[in-house]
Amino acid sequence: ASTLGASAAERGRYFGVAIAGSRLSDSTYATIANREFNMVSAENEMKLDATEPNQNQFSFGAGDQIVNWARNNGKQVRGHTLAWHSQQPGWMQRMEGSSLRSAMLNHVTRVATYYKGKIHSWDVVNEAFADGSSGARRDSNLQRTGNDWIEAAFRAARAADPAAKLCYNDYNTDNWSHAKTQAVYRMVQDFKSRGVPIDCVGFQAHFNSGNPVPSNYHTTLQNFASLGVDVQITELDIEGSGSSQAEQYRGIVQACLAVTRCNGITVWGVRDTDSWRASGTPLLFNGSGQKKAAYDAVLAAL
Ligand code: XIL
Repeated sequence: ASTLGASAAERGRYFGVAIAGSRLSDSTYATIANREFNMVSAENEMKLDATEPNQNQFSFGAGDQIVNWARNNGKQVRGHTLAWHSQQPGWMQRMEGSSLRSAMLNHVTRVATYYKGKIHSWDVVNEAFADGSSGARRDSNLQRTGNDWIEAAFRAARAADPAAKLCYNDYNTDNWSHAKTQAVYRMVQDFKSRGVPIDCVGFQAHFNSGNPVPSNYHTTLQNFASLGVDVQITELDIEGSGSSQAEQYRGIVQACLAVTRCNGITVWGVRDTDSWRASGTPLLFNGSGQKKAAYDAVLAAL
């Protein structure tokens, strides 16, 4: 097939993109997004600060714009994200203890209920593990409510939207030998053994020269899948250019296709100029909307 989404579909996968609602009025952007992709994530519009700016006052207009654009154009939606230490509204940042736990669970329930039936997969919890060699949970106001906050969030999400796949999503979990990867693996293993409802693990996959695509990437994806969960590449971008960048993108696609339970790949933006990264050219289209070598490599690998 001649587009990323259609080619991925032939392989039983999706190919997604993060959309910023404010950019949908840019016709070059919207044309590429609509043509190439069959899964959509909201880059910011479904996060906690966007959806619950004041406690118990929910705001779904910005998220709805993206969900409606996706559905009107025949695309599915990944929900991003229900519980996270970052991009919390101010009221939540100032909360702690049992009141924060209740507020977090209320948020999960209300947002997942609102979007019930419209979400392919939810990033229920995002970025809950620390970087470095500790293998520990990340310190945050949510973590300080008790180590069981993650499973509590998953149970609330399952109750609210039983049909959505429920994912744990994180970054720097690509290299199988890293402590953070191992720690997330043990959590998923524990959840599966105790019947905590988890269906998938999202690998953000933000790569750069200091954090390249690891040679054991396929091993990582396969080992998680072997726990009985789907794996998804959820926020892919790779700094660089030319054939070196293209080869890294190709490697990611090949690693996913080699794992039966790797459902799909999402890139974190359309053009290089749409990227959240301050510098660099990490995406598949250049600032003019032209296909890069990385695009050709991905399409050929699918
Ligand atoms: C980023 C967005 O792309 C930016 O627009 C925003 O300013 C900050 O968040 N990991 C995640 C994403 O899970 O939500 C982040 O998105 C990128 C890192």
